[in-house]
Amino acid sequence: MKIISDIQELRDHLRGQNRASFVPTMGNLHEGHLSLMRLARQHGDPVVASIFVNRLQFGPNEDFDSYPRTMQADIEKLEKEGVYILFAPTERDLYPQPQEYRVDPPQQLGDILEGEFRPGFFKGVCTVVLKLFSCVQPKVAVFGKKDYQQLMIIRQMAKQFALPVEIIPGETIRAEDGLALSSRNGYLSAKERTEAPELLKALKEVRQRVLDLNVRDAISLSKIEQAAVASLAGRGWQPDYIAIRQQCDLAPASNENLEAGEPLVILTAAKLGKTRLIDNLEI
Ligand code: PAF
Repeated sequence: MKIISDIQELRDHLRGQNRASFVPTMGNLHEGHLSLMRLARQHGDPVVASIFVNRLQFGPNEDFDSYPRTMQADIEKLEKEGVYILFAPTERDLYPQPQEYRVDPPQQLGDILEGEFRPGFFKGVCTVVLKLFSCVQPKVAVFGKKDYQQLMIIRQMAKQFALPVEIIPGETIRAEDGLALSSRNGYLSAKERTEAPELLKALKEVRQRVLDLNVRDAISLSKIEQAAVASLAGRGWQPDYIAIRQQCDLAPASNENLEAGEPLVILTAAKLGKTRLIDNLEI
């Protein structure tokens, strides 16, 4: 595997390749990322991965400094997956000048859910992803469904800018007890780790209540959301949201959507101690 930090050197290496398949990451790779590498291999060749902890997408009180950086272990994992190039730019490589041009996603997608609780997050994500796309110029790029809203926003960005890249979604990989794999799981204490699978259990309970719902019932979807938030809070979590949304645009779901059998998704973010976890479940 070639490890490249310089944009020009990356372009030289990829010259003439028009089927490259790309997986952007922030490193600290786990089985979830590796499953994305395997998916990337099915959709293009060569596979290019990137590791870059993107300052632009972290809020002032977030974990940019403490975000786990495990480059050596990551390199070994990527080599085993047959990744051809690891693009690992420094901040100076990727942002040689302050990044003043930014991609601002539309409010109705970028300022809801994660965007409401992490202002500017998706602007930072879109800006770096557009820049990484410009460096790698992949034919396809793979993003995990674990970051459901991110996947949707990147997909819309690619469409609206007519970027010549196909966005492929990768399924969430879970530990045996159901906890979605995430680099931030490493922040959990042993006690919190045993509690963490309750987040998926809460999503499954919401899904069951939605499926059992008779559309003519007086109970609204927001009541189901509120009950789930209260139940997690009762267990010691600090939930930011549990939201039942339409898959197509993440707009709030209604009983009419339910009646029409439209695909829905339940998204959640909640803090357990100091660790903020996110997850989602499609209906
Ligand atoms: O999902 C991530 O790890 C990041 O948001 C991404 C897409 C690599 C952009 O920094």
